[in-house]
Amino acid sequence: MGIQMANSENIKKAAELLNSGGLVAMPTETVYGLAANAFDGQAVARIFAAKGRPQINPLIVHVASIAQAEDHVVFDARARKYADHFWPGPLTLILPKKENCEISELVSAGLPTIGVRCPAHPIAQQLLNTCGLPLAAPSANASGTISPTAPIHVAQSLGDKVDMILSGGNCTEGLESTILDLSGALPVILRPGTITADDIAQVEGLTPEVGYGNPEAPTSPGQLLKHYAPNADLRLNAVDVAADEALLGFGSLKFMGVKGGGFAKDLPQGQMLNLSENGDLYQAASHLFAYLRRLDDAGFSKIAVMSIPNTGLGIAINDRLTRAARK
Ligand code: TXA
Ligand code: MG
Repeated sequence: MGIQMANSENIKKAAELLNSGGLVAMPTETVYGLAANAFDGQAVARIFAAKGRPQINPLIVHVASIAQAEDHVVFDARARKYADHFWPGPLTLILPKKENCEISELVSAGLPTIGVRCPAHPIAQQLLNTCGLPLAAPSANASGTISPTAPIHVAQSLGDKVDMILSGGNCTEGLESTILDLSGALPVILRPGTITADDIAQVEGLTPEVGYGNPEAPTSPGQLLKHYAPNADLRLNAVDVAADEALLGFGSLKFMGVKGGGFAKDLPQGQMLNLSENGDLYQAASHLFAYLRRLDDAGFSKIAVMSIPNTGLGIAINDRLTRAARK
């Protein structure tokens, strides 16, 4: 069926596919998700197969509302505060499973917790409301590769392994949701995203702990794995660019030189993409995955990446870049 316009007829079709065990790629504000009925173990198994994802890596469950999430996970007063504040939006909450929870065991990879998220994207909302199911959905890309921020990325990465791709254009956020673990005494950020530690601290006046960045001792199973890998080798914090490298820029290129002479701003078109000419981190985040793909697809085997300030949203961007650079 391939890429379909997300009109009400196709959303209805997508909902029917989900109710009969199919896989639907849906737009969210962060990245495209590969959705299946979270109650249906066989459908969930198809997600793992389509992505080539190790079954130790649990999936996020998408819900239409807090009320729907409450059917499956234990929502205490603290969880409710965060959800009230950030939902619908790019925040995943890790919460204890309810007793007799009917979500497939495969979704949580045997853990006693589930990651739940209520996406803000209107098409994701319509799909969730139309199908009436909680939807297990990881990013809609082959495991380990760059996350999809446009419908064409899903088609290129998964092809006919997905029954339908609902098109919602480019994702506005472009980075996966912030993951906040609320299953312990203190809130812990397991994956940085566009909702920053400072944003989270506003809610209770409590700065969350940092639970990411140490590949030797990951707190989220998915953090163990090589991720977001382009084919090209990345060289981070580059202060110049070699003639055979592509450049992923950030901010002004005025002082960026080419090794052996010349200026980066004069590089041939296609060899250089700038995440944000005026140094806007939000814009850079929304471009990151699509630009990595473009340079990769252009056939460069090396990409020099200019440094990105490691504050606010820059923390999430640098998290993805560091993983993408890992061999
Ligand atoms: O923005 C997003 O979160 C996107 C869109 C589609 O919603 N989804 C996404 O899913 O990024 P995925 O599967 O690519 O990443 C989910 C991450 C993995 O690193 C996984 O290990 C972690 O969430 N995770 C899921 N359930 C968990 C749990 N119960 N405890 C700890 N980590 C969990
Ligand atoms: Mg992913």
